[in-house]
Amino acid sequence: MLSDVLSLKFNPLVPEVKDAEISEKHLSDLKGYFADEHAYEQLLSEDPILYRVSTWEIAHGDGDLICGFGILQPGKVGDEYFFTKGHYHEWREAAEIYVGLSGEGYMLLEHETNKESKLFPLSANRIVYVPGYTAHRTINVGTIPLTYMGIYSVRAGHDYGALVENNFRKILVARDGKPTLIDRREYANARIPKGVS
Ligand code: F6R
Ligand code: MN
Repeated sequence: MLSDVLSLKFNPLVPEVKDAEISEKHLSDLKGYFADEHAYEQLLSEDPILYRVSTWEIAHGDGDLICGFGILQPGKVGDEYFFTKGHYHEWREAAEIYVGLSGEGYMLLEHETNKESKLFPLSANRIVYVPGYTAHRTINVGTIPLTYMGIYSVRAGHDYGALVENNFRKILVARDGKPTLIDRREYANARIPKGVS
């Protein structure tokens, strides 16, 4: 049946699906994700909201698609820009297409097997193709919310556990005011206080 619900109007600045359940993540939901634990603990007293996601799910057949709308707030924990948890798809072959709607950010991709990572800009009029077997995280480097949609198979599922065990190897930090991708280890070493071995 080709019903009217197959079409949806949304606001690119606040893309939310009416009457859909909204998943809201606060800083406290991302314990252990940010590199600077001290800065994390300090900001925790405010426990800001980091992002909201609502999904447009029309049908649940094997070949169907889900469209997830994300609103990621601007901000930093220490030098590290606010980001989403990031995940692999449970069905590892499942790819996803991200479409930038407003704001300024990046997608950080990391391949599961060879751990190669790469950063792709995400903003209005840009799309990013996330291949299968690839962990993906959205990062806001701007001063306004970054909004986007991700389109993926109903069969994809989310696997967060693999990244809890083994976080992304690279992190995006502000260096001289510019987003700079560095090794997590490099950042951790730089933060060891002098005189501590
Ligand atoms: C779905 C997808 C997005 C994310 C959203 C929040 O496969 O990639 O809809 O779910 O950007 O990020 P996570 O799920 O990593 O907290
Ligand atoms: Mn995904």
